[in-house]
Amino acid sequence: MPKTTKSRNLMASTAIVQLGEVVNVAAVVHRSPFRYPGGKTWLVPRVRQWLKSLKPAPRELAEPFAGGAIVSLSALLEEIVQQITMVEKDEDVAAVWDVIIYGEGSRLANDIVAFNPTDENIKNQLKLPIADRYQRAFTTIVRNRVQRGGIIAAGASLLNKGENKKGMRSRWYPETLKKRINAIIEKRRQIAFIQGDGIDFIRYNAHRADTAFFIDPPYTQAARRLYTFGEIDHRKLFKAAMKIKGDFLMTYDATEEIQKLAKEFGFQSEPVAMKNTHHEIMNDLVVGKNLAWLKSATEEPQSERAAQPDSPAVTSP
Ligand SMILES: C[S@@+](CC[C@H](N)C(=O)[O-])C[C@H]1O[C@@H](n2cnc3c(N)ncnc32)[C@H](O)[C@@H]1O
Repeated sequence: MPKTTKSRNLMASTAIVQLGEVVNVAAVVHRSPFRYPGGKTWLVPRVRQWLKSLKPAPRELAEPFAGGAIVSLSALLEEIVQQITMVEKDEDVAAVWDVIIYGEGSRLANDIVAFNPTDENIKNQLKLPIADRYQRAFTTIVRNRVQRGGIIAAGASLLNKGENKKGMRSRWYPETLKKRINAIIEKRRQIAFIQGDGIDFIRYNAHRADTAFFIDPPYTQAARRLYTFGEIDHRKLFKAAMKIKGDFLMTYDATEEIQKLAKEFGFQSEPVAMKNTHHEIMNDLVVGKNLAWLKSATEEPQSERAAQPDSPAVTSP
């Protein structure tokens, strides 16, 4: 293998966490039907470590800015928690979770497999007026697969050449999506989904001592382009987080504004390195009450390594 290819491959399969440890992203099983902009697949090993460090162990994990919900789904499917609650404001994203968790999830999985993703069929599907919640969910899945970076917000463009010059269908993995959806359906009694405001959810549920919160809001920069709801009141979120009785882990872009807020509210913050869409290493920030667990980070076991049709790097911010 030529040297350049080898080093590029190495970059694609690892993310480096500051404090000296390497997370093998290929070892993270991707459990979400979404390829999500700003998705936190790369952080799953660290979240696992955080949850396992908590005494007493939380019964529930809440994800108030769910998006692709990779973190809460991983915690549930790996049986680290017994219950998850996902909250998302975006109607399109919410339709997908509603259908899978409360509606016709199997129909959605089968329709994905039955869909013939020619350029014409894709364009026609995206043009269809939304008739009902089910159709909104199906169209959202198509849009998420065929638009650049998985961005479903207005203004995102279609994949042009895609991978291996396969164009729009280059990220259409119907059987993989079906498997992921069916795995979620099997656990749906342990999943609650709410279409609503993440900060309000935290305020109303902060008193629940047996619940841990993974909080991944739209960041302070670049989020407007990625999401239909790309702006929140960060101070209000920190205020709500202060009331959380159990523990929380929050992620942000490593800006001075957020570091200052963390300090003001008495939280700890640590930079964690991640890869962006261009395979550049950048720092994100994790914020929490006590991040001592992060310092005892160890590498994930290799046994979980699995072929991942969705490279997490593609959907990272
Ligand atoms: C950084 S993304 C979450 C990504 C997610 N952690 C993942 O791994 O897929 C932030 C999400 O928050 C949603 N959002 C924005 N404002 C919100 C609000 N006020 N309440 C709930 N969700 C909101 C956005 O639509 C977006 O899906």
